[in-house]
Amino acid sequence: METTLIILKPDAVQRGFMGRIISRFEDKGLQIVGAKLMMISQELAAKHYEAHQSKGFYAGLVKFMTSSPVLVMAIRGNDAIAISRKMMGATFGSNAEPGTIRGDFGVSNSFNLIHGSDSPEAAERELGLFFNNGEVLNFDRAIENWVYDMSGGEPE
Ligand code: RTP
Ligand code: MG
Repeated sequence: METTLIILKPDAVQRGFMGRIISRFEDKGLQIVGAKLMMISQELAAKHYEAHQSKGFYAGLVKFMTSSPVLVMAIRGNDAIAISRKMMGATFGSNAEPGTIRGDFGVSNSFNLIHGSDSPEAAERELGLFFNNGEVLNFDRAIENWVYDMSGGEPE
């Protein structure tokens, strides 16, 4: 099982899309194992986006991400990282496919609604930045055996 960091960005929160976006992850069968509404500080934004520090869009990105509350979530499932990235769609709203979150809810390239970790290493690093020990939970879902085929002992 993988756990990934998802951020509903300031535009998603302000536009009232939290519920609809959360529902997409729940509908898919992924498990929400952590969540908090928060303001991202300059320091946290700088750490989170350190790979983009040399890019032309960096200053605008940090300004956007620190401008208004975000909802951060830890989301778990088999291949949760790749599945979430597919559900998010291409980076820019202008060319994200219909059916994806960015494709269905936005048209802007910089206000693109959602962040998702792009690798297991990034997920581990980012979960550590946004969640303290004990804030990402381990709990059994009563529906687990209907979300996954567990007959082989592994979720399939
Ligand atoms: P994210 O990290 O937010 O999940 O998005 P991503 O992997 O699809 O895109 P990434 O290349 O990591 O870029 C991070 C965020 O920076 C903004 N961006 N703006 N104006 C531009 O050319 C540009 N390029 C990237 C977007 O907000 C993107 O999500
Ligand atoms: Mg990225």
